[in-house]
Amino acid sequence: MNIIDGKKTAAEIRSEIAEAVKEIKNSGHRVPHLAAILVGNDGGSETYVSHKVKDCEEVGFRSTLIRMPATVSEDVLLGKVRELNGDPELDGLIVQLPLPDHISEDKVIETISPDKDVDGFHPVNVGRMAAGLPSFVSATPAGIMELLKRYNIPLKGAECVVVGRSNIVGRPVSILLSQKGADATVTVVHSRTRNIAEIVRRADIIIAAIGQPGFITADMVKEGAVVIDVGTTRVDAPDTKAGWRLKGDVDFEKVAPRCSWITPVPGGVGPMTRVSLLLNTLQACRAQGKLMPVK
Ligand code: GUN
Repeated sequence: MNIIDGKKTAAEIRSEIAEAVKEIKNSGHRVPHLAAILVGNDGGSETYVSHKVKDCEEVGFRSTLIRMPATVSEDVLLGKVRELNGDPELDGLIVQLPLPDHISEDKVIETISPDKDVDGFHPVNVGRMAAGLPSFVSATPAGIMELLKRYNIPLKGAECVVVGRSNIVGRPVSILLSQKGADATVTVVHSRTRNIAEIVRRADIIIAAIGQPGFITADMVKEGAVVIDVGTTRVDAPDTKAGWRLKGDVDFEKVAPRCSWITPVPGGVGPMTRVSLLLNTLQACRAQGKLMPVK
């Protein structure tokens, strides 16, 4: 069994990005600039956004955090998004989700300019990605594909089973894996699938993205399979300082000995998700208004 080390890979990519930023600076251009809008003060969102700001600092990007109260009207938020869409000093724009109930997340996402939508959530980017056209790919699917590429995991003709069909992970990663160039054979299983265990057992590569800790058990995993664990559920852990720890969708202790490769939680997909947002922002900066080919 070998560990796919997302923490180490993400650190390598951050230093590659930092090098690219130095080159951009040396050529007399401004550095990539990401803006994040944070509405309200949800604890989880505060943490995610502070990580994004810190990541930008580490690689030499400029970042701008715009805070708005939870009571902000949808019109005011949409106005801010439109204003930032038109800001030539800005490459990437994200609005941290979830938003308060009185604001339509769909409306907000659709108002972000597709050229600045480094989350890859805008229907234009989702559609372009699905059609195999240049686009921003959302961070977790992009991070998984990069990890598979950097560990030279063979995808061509491989049987991949994606567990979960969410719009932000399961569905997009299933599309990317089956695209020309990746060439995997993909099955998506979900809550209404019959015989999930039987289907997952066929997989050369399992992508577990359902958000149920320990869902993938050893009897569901073929000897020698590659397992990518996207789950990050907080479970109570009174022995830790925080009082909780992250648990993946895979029963790591029992499954790992059967695998050729496996991602841990934490330290697998999570750090790759963070670095993918930086890669998208660099791509947005380089494109200067025109979308560039996906790598
Ligand atoms: N909330 C949880 N994950 C994300 C993300 O990737 N982007 C945004 N904008 N909000 C989130």
